[in-house]
Amino acid sequence: MKVLVTGVAGFIGSKVAEGLLKRGDSVVGIDDLNDYYDPRLKRWRLKQLEGFQGFTFVEGDIVNYDTVKSLFEAHNFDACINLAARAGVRYSVKDPWVYLDTNVKGTINLLECCKDRGVNRFVLASTSSLYGFNEMPFSESQRTDTPLAPYGATKKAAEAVCYSYHYLYGLDIIIPRYFTVYGPAGRPDMSIFKFIKNIDRGKPIPVFGDGKQKRDFTYIDDIADGTIRCLDQKGYEIINLGNDNSVVLMYVINLIEEALGKKAQINWLERHPADVEATWADITKARTLLGWEPKVRIEEGIKRTVNWYKENRDFLISLKEAE
Ligand SMILES: NC(=O)c1ccc[n+]([C@@H]2O[C@H](COP(=O)([O-])OP(=O)(O)OC[C@H]3O[C@@H](n4cnc5c(N)ncnc54)[C@H](O)[C@@H]3O)[C@@H](O)[C@H]2O)c1
Repeated sequence: MKVLVTGVAGFIGSKVAEGLLKRGDSVVGIDDLNDYYDPRLKRWRLKQLEGFQGFTFVEGDIVNYDTVKSLFEAHNFDACINLAARAGVRYSVKDPWVYLDTNVKGTINLLECCKDRGVNRFVLASTSSLYGFNEMPFSESQRTDTPLAPYGATKKAAEAVCYSYHYLYGLDIIIPRYFTVYGPAGRPDMSIFKFIKNIDRGKPIPVFGDGKQKRDFTYIDDIADGTIRCLDQKGYEIINLGNDNSVVLMYVINLIEEALGKKAQINWLERHPADVEATWADITKARTLLGWEPKVRIEEGIKRTVNWYKENRDFLISLKEAE
C-alpha cells in the first residue's frame, strides 16, 4: 500500500510510519514542523525514518488546500492516516483558532482530496479527552458532545465531519480515540517527558491537583500497532485505544524515580479545569474488531522510555522547554 501519513514528524505519526515501512508499505509523510514544541525533536524522529526505502517526506501545512491537493495529484494513495494536529489540551485554551484550522479545516482538506481522488480508506486520530466527566470505563457509545476544552471540541468536529464523508461518499473511516500515549521520543509538553527531564536534572516537577489522578498510559508501540490495524476496517467506526489498566500519576513518578535512581521534587499546582480527574478505557471494541490488546505494561514502558532518555540525554536537555 501507499499510505499518506500526516503529522509524520510527530510522536505517533513517526511510529505509525515506521510500522508501515517495516511491513513493506510505502509512506508519504507530511508535516509542517511547527514550533509548538522544539522542532529539533521532530527532525530527530524524521532522521530515524530516512533509512527506510519507500519513505518520502514533504514539509507542508494541511491547512493549505493547494498543498494537500498537489500532494494527492502527485501520488496515488491507497489510504490516508491523519495524525497531524494541534494536540495539547491546555494550549488550546490560549489559542483555539490554530486548533480549529489544523484539526478541522486540515481534516476537511484531506477528506475532500480523498473523495475526489477515490482514496477510500481514512483513519483519523481522536482523543479520550472527549469523554470529559462521563462514567468510567469510557465506552464509544457514551455521549461526547460536551468537551472540556477547545482541543476536544475540534476533535469532536473532525469526527463529525468524517461521518458526513462516510455517509455522503462511502469512505471507510476509522477513528481511534487514544488514551494518554507515552514512550521514547514522546511529546515534550506531556507529563512523562517533563518528569523524566526534570527529575534527572534535580528540578521540581509540576504536578496538577493531588497527584492521585488516574490515566490509562498507553505505550507508543501499542498505539502504532492499533492505528495500523484500523486500515483493515470498513464502514465508520470509533474505537478506543487505551490501556484498560488505569494507574495513579504518583505511581508513574515513583517508577521514573526508580529508573533514574533519583528522587523527585514536586511543585504542586492547582488542577486545571480542562484536565479530567481520571481516564479508564473500555477496549472491548478494539479487542473484538481489531484483535488488539495493549502489550506493554507501564513498568516496562517507563524503563524503555527512561533508557531512551539516557541514550539521548544531552540532545534532550538542549531542547527548548515546552509549554
Ligand atoms: N499523544 C497523545 O497522548 C494523544 C492522545 C490523544 C490523541 N492524540 C492525537 O494523536 C495525533 C498525534 O499526536 P502526537 O502526540 O503525535 O502529537 P505531535 O504534536 O507530536 O504530532 C503532531 C504532528 O503534526 C504536525 N502538524 C501540526 N499541525 C500541522 C499542520 N497544519 N500541517 C502539517 N502538520 C502539522 C506537528 O508538527 C507534529 O509533528 C494527534 O491528532 C493528537 O490529537 C494524541
